[in-house]
Amino acid sequence: MGTAVSARRYSLVAIVLHWASALGVLALIGIGLTMAHAGLTPMRQFQLYQWHKSVGITVLGLTVLRFAWRLFHKPPAHPAAMPVRERRAASAAHGFLYLLLVGLPLTGWAVVSLSPFNIPTVLYGLVSWPHLPLAALVPDQALAEAIFKRVHAYGAWLLIALLVLHVAAALRHHFILRDDVLRRMMPMRGSRSVSEPLGSSR
Ligand code: HEM
Repeated sequence: MGTAVSARRYSLVAIVLHWASALGVLALIGIGLTMAHAGLTPMRQFQLYQWHKSVGITVLGLTVLRFAWRLFHKPPAHPAAMPVRERRAASAAHGFLYLLLVGLPLTGWAVVSLSPFNIPTVLYGLVSWPHLPLAALVPDQALAEAIFKRVHAYGAWLLIALLVLHVAAALRHHFILRDDVLRRMMPMRGSRSVSEPLGSSR
């Protein structure tokens, strides 16, 4: 009977969900900043809002799938040489990233649902998406909309800062520490890491 070991690499499903989310989030940041600040014509702005809402709800769906997958599939362990404080920092950063990947779509959805213009959301021009039933719950709809807008925008900047950290940490692991942390999230084969006992997992 062999000792239980954690996987060396992320599963293909986890890898696909990770990179699809990354692509979606980058698109959302680009579209979001452009539609909110570039002084577009109302028609162009409307189109970008529809794209933003469609990709944003998709990222919410991907995040729910990631949570579900993670419930049953343990991620690979941290490298054995990684100091405890770095393990904690990595787990905290990943926790915040997940929080924002849920919080940003929900606050964006709340903004749209509270807007006095009551603009329907039709995902990718195909699927009609409902508003959250918030209007009946808040005493001051305009104030609630303004608060959610503020939280959504600040949350987006926090996400951008965390993404910079996340990418910098991945590059440090790859080019300076020369371990497997980035490679095991890549879709190709060829991990050089040694499996570690389940107990040392994050
Ligand atoms: C991970 C998901 C998301 C990210 C990273 C994101 C990012 C952004 C960014 C960067 C902005 C510009 C903020 C500013 O500087 O004013 C923005 C604005 C906005 N987003 Fe999102 N967004 C996400 C999801 C969503 C979703 C799902 C919806 C709606 C269903 C949505 C609706 C909006 C709206 C209505 C605005 C404009 C708010 C305003 O007028 O100030 N977002 N978003």
